[in-house]
Amino acid sequence: MILSRITDLVGHTHMMEIPVSNPNARLFLKLEKFNPGGSMKDRMAISMVDAAERDGLLRPGGTIVESSSGNTGIGLAIVAAERGYQFIAVVDHHASKDKLLTMRALGAQLHFVTGVYAENEVAVVERQETAARLGREIPGAVFMNQSDNPANPAGYADLADAICSEVGSNLRLYVSCAGTGGSITGVGRRLKKIDPKIHVIAVEPEGSIIFGNPPHPYYQSGTGTPGGDEVGKVMDYSVVDEGITVGDREAFATCRFIARRFGLLIGGSTGGALFRALERVNAPEFHGVAVCNVCDGGEKYLQSIFDDEWLSSRQLLTDQFTEFLTEAVTRRSWNASIEISAPSPLTLVRSVDRHEANISPH
Ligand SMILES: Cc1ncc(COP(=O)(O)O)c(C=O)c1O
Repeated sequence: MILSRITDLVGHTHMMEIPVSNPNARLFLKLEKFNPGGSMKDRMAISMVDAAERDGLLRPGGTIVESSSGNTGIGLAIVAAERGYQFIAVVDHHASKDKLLTMRALGAQLHFVTGVYAENEVAVVERQETAARLGREIPGAVFMNQSDNPANPAGYADLADAICSEVGSNLRLYVSCAGTGGSITGVGRRLKKIDPKIHVIAVEPEGSIIFGNPPHPYYQSGTGTPGGDEVGKVMDYSVVDEGITVGDREAFATCRFIARRFGLLIGGSTGGALFRALERVNAPEFHGVAVCNVCDGGEKYLQSIFDDEWLSSRQLLTDQFTEFLTEAVTRRSWNASIEISAPSPLTLVRSVDRHEANISPH
């Protein structure tokens, strides 16, 4: 493939099978970490910039402003570099250092919030307020506001299409993370159109408030909605069948296990989603194909999730889940009836408007 620009790579991600012990199940990872910015968020960054241009908000030489834990910022930094915009990322200490350095390397201006926070506390409220203010104050600037921007979920319609055409009509379960809710909403909305029986599970960190659980700080980065913040308007609960939580220890243990067992580095939010996906697909009643989304890669967390000292000093290092994980990915036998059948009914609904952006009240 010869590219004329780096964003031509966005969306060209592969699917990888993980063996599971339930002979009636197949589990695939959608490797969104292989987008050029290293996460699924490249998709929505393009979608939001396209929408701002289309609406006449963003003009040549203008400035993009966004509050980001890193991945949205990296996606926007790439698009801004390519299209000649300035980009200001409003960030906090909770973002991984590698993500911040990547944004800076791509030409983004990092604007740190000034409040004092605990290490595992996300400063998302101050970030949002600051980004909104900068968007108002700087001439030619546009605050993208991913939590409330319909172009965020709209950017994931292609991801759902790709998943369905890759795994075919046996798809029964989709598991991914929820932060703003943009990706689970965008994919879920499309999957439900293709086949309402596909079960959609959103996984948030324990301590996140999206599904009504009590707030407390957490270390999984880029995902969840912390206490004090509001759940994004983009979150459409009607396309999510279940919202469940996962702890930092389960999430990080899964990342470390998958790295050593399969040579694949996944990020902490994906570790959590995959832990829960492995529980579900190995339940005796599960039959069919499941997909778990790899939202980003472990390369962004070498100094945290993959650093023994960092983990143990926070009581997050444990081998408590090794037995479960080892069992979960051990293929028992093979049920040939679980095939990857060719294109699902998806191809028939491909022309459905991808910019549909119904946001249900919540
Ligand atoms: C690593 C990671 N996981 C999960 C999410 C949550 O995605 P969404 O905001 O689409 O809900 C994000 C969002 O930034 C992310 O960067």
